[in-house]
Amino acid sequence: EAGALWGGRFKGGPAPELIELSRSTHFDWQLAQYDIAGSRAHARALARAGYLSDDELEGMLSALDALSTAVDDGTFRPLPEDEDVHSALERGLIDIAGAELGGRLRAGRSRNDQIATLVRMLLRDHARTLSTLLVDLVDAIAAQAGDHLTAIMPGRTHLQHAQPVLLAHQLLAHCWPIVRDLERLRDWDARADASPYGSGALAGNTLGLDPGAIAAELGFSAVVENSIDGTASRDLVAEFAYVCAQVGIDLSRFAEEIILWNTKEFGFVTLSDSYSTGSSIMPQKKNPDIAELARGKAGRVIGNLTGLLATLKGLPLAYNRDLQEDKEPVFDSIKTLEVLLPAFTGMVATMEFHTERMAELAPQGYSLATDVAEWLVKQHVTFRDAHEITGALVRFAEMHGLELDELTDEQYAALSPHLTPAVREVLTIEGSVASRAGAAGTAPERVREQLANLTARIRTL
Ligand code: ARG
Repeated sequence: EAGALWGGRFKGGPAPELIELSRSTHFDWQLAQYDIAGSRAHARALARAGYLSDDELEGMLSALDALSTAVDDGTFRPLPEDEDVHSALERGLIDIAGAELGGRLRAGRSRNDQIATLVRMLLRDHARTLSTLLVDLVDAIAAQAGDHLTAIMPGRTHLQHAQPVLLAHQLLAHCWPIVRDLERLRDWDARADASPYGSGALAGNTLGLDPGAIAAELGFSAVVENSIDGTASRDLVAEFAYVCAQVGIDLSRFAEEIILWNTKEFGFVTLSDSYSTGSSIMPQKKNPDIAELARGKAGRVIGNLTGLLATLKGLPLAYNRDLQEDKEPVFDSIKTLEVLLPAFTGMVATMEFHTERMAELAPQGYSLATDVAEWLVKQHVTFRDAHEITGALVRFAEMHGLELDELTDEQYAALSPHLTPAVREVLTIEGSVASRAGAAGTAPERVREQLANLTARIRTL
């Protein structure tokens, strides 16, 4: 087999079915530049340890530069018989530098420590890309919140009207999980900041190479403590896939609300034409496809995580070829989110809110009943009694097809002597919202502080 890295002890070449099964270049080729960066650092370590002369090192580095250019401009591509990115690049190096020099680079390293390092490098880069895209989304949601600091909407539990809340409060409630996702990426990166390069196949290397120097050159501030762990663990890959899945879930929950808000029945939002789709048969249709795709893709990124976890379960130490299956799921999650997030952010930034419709619905469904009960408590009625009285009030209103503020003073008094006309002061949505002024509450001044805190926090991520 052309360029195979392990032919020596084998009598014949590998079966074509094996080559077909084993090949990973269709997904690990995206690690090519990381592999070459690792090779540059490794070549310098070999030279420092006395395995390459100054001239040889110079020849090796310029061959690696030429290979890197050929990879970038597509003139060097993996062949069908290349097993993986490492095999293909060694073939490419030998084409450029010759077998005498090119054949020296592999000393003291294994594909096992290489691949573990390269995946970390790629994930660390995408942690930064994803963070930027997530900050853009938080900025878009926060801008909408800032534009709607007094609008009131029905807050729901069990999808039923519960209590009025500020639209800005609801929107910011979708920001905080994303802020935590950003923190998760940052925390993850600190854990991923250790290089497995130098762990060899599993037990370390004998050549006296300096893994610390390689780590530093590849952007790591430390080397892993244990070469078996360095080559065999993939918990960091799974953790990254988890953060991607959580982002998918956070977007999906917001997406579900947008889909509901966009229905005729809710009428809370209109999506911009540029971020909506039509129907091939129904000319009137305008569909919230971005939100639906967000909801659908959440299933996909959750699947990537669970598939990866299932692959890892029960694997003995150290490296097993099963570990090759770590890459496609996490690469797919990254790609999925990097395509989804800009579209989702555009949809949110251009979404138009119908605040009069929200305000009209906010008091309905007896959503001010808690305010009545708490008003009674302020009149020194016990909460048990207040709950009973208010429950009777709601039952009466419902029976007569009235809203709570549509009863007469006499009807209030007949229900309870505690229900004086003064109760009307809490029967407005503005009064209700303003009264929830405790920490984290929906009162306008609290929400304004919340927005300022969010904006400050996001600048630290
Ligand atoms: N392609 C493998 C992977 O992605 C790395 C190569 C290790 N192969 C081996 N036979 N030890 O995990």
